[in-house]
Amino acid sequence: QTVSLIGAPTDVGASVRGAGMGPDALRVAGLAQALHAQRFDVVDRGNLAGPPNPWQAPADGVRHLDEVVAWNWAVYGAVEQALAQGQFPLLMGGDHCLAIGSISAVARHCRAAGKQLRVIWLDAHSDVNTATSSPTGNLHGMPVSCLLGHGPKPLVGWSGEPAAITPEQVDFIGIRSVDADEKQAIRDLGLSVYDMRHIDEHGMRHTMTEVLQDVDENTHLHVSFDLDCLDPMEAPGVGTGVRGGPTYREMQLCMEMIADTGRLASLDVVEINPALDVRNRTAELAVEFIQSLFGASTLAR
Ligand code: ARG
Ligand code: MN
Ligand code: MN
Ligand code: MN
Repeated sequence: QTVSLIGAPTDVGASVRGAGMGPDALRVAGLAQALHAQRFDVVDRGNLAGPPNPWQAPADGVRHLDEVVAWNWAVYGAVEQALAQGQFPLLMGGDHCLAIGSISAVARHCRAAGKQLRVIWLDAHSDVNTATSSPTGNLHGMPVSCLLGHGPKPLVGWSGEPAAITPEQVDFIGIRSVDADEKQAIRDLGLSVYDMRHIDEHGMRHTMTEVLQDVDENTHLHVSFDLDCLDPMEAPGVGTGVRGGPTYREMQLCMEMIADTGRLASLDVVEINPALDVRNRTAELAVEFIQSLFGASTLAR
């Protein structure tokens, strides 16, 4: 299959600048070459265009709404086009607000194709704030709410339905930072949050077995991979790092178990911040994990 690399160089959804350099950091880390070495065809569609970061304070609880809408429209179009061409869309962010456009396009595609969409959200944060609950107004903390139909109006309904996904369709892995009102939202919505305590007690293997148990031939698996899911000791190049994340080994196992399903069909790689990184280590780490997601294994050929 052909993997379509889609660059979205923006940090309009974040309050720390730098994630806009993520796509080039992944290119410099050799993402295309790594996938090519695994015998995938790779097309780099280059970088999407969008408005600059205006660096404004929140208005009505959200920052940069117009800019976030513009960037997500560009992402939506590119992901939709890749899927229509039978390609695997790999979104290179950019901050995590871009998952709104990406997953909305995936959801529309799945409905048309009669596929069952499942989203795996790898993150330190649950990203389920709204304009009223967010302590920051940053839209990279709200993409899940938008996809569930509860975000700011201009960011809701893009999949053609009021909500792109239902709470049952998403599982969160690695969570360890949830704002006060997000805790209530998680309970009210009934979201499946496998937090770090769950991973500590049950291990990554048991956790992923549970998450993946009902994946079948008709499943379209989408992974939304926020690099701050990892412990900052491994991945220092992120804007909102939180200590106490999965280790390198745990994350590798997570990726390998997803790959084993054979159902991975779209991917977001977001929140890499080269301005805060150490010699591009975080992008290089991301490339290693992406290789595992695409089936690389130590012994199998
Ligand atoms: N919960 C915090 C907020 O709403 C942090 C969100 C961080 N999100 C991310 N995608 N890194 O601002
Ligand atoms: Mn995060
Ligand atoms: Mn579930
Ligand atoms: Mn996130």
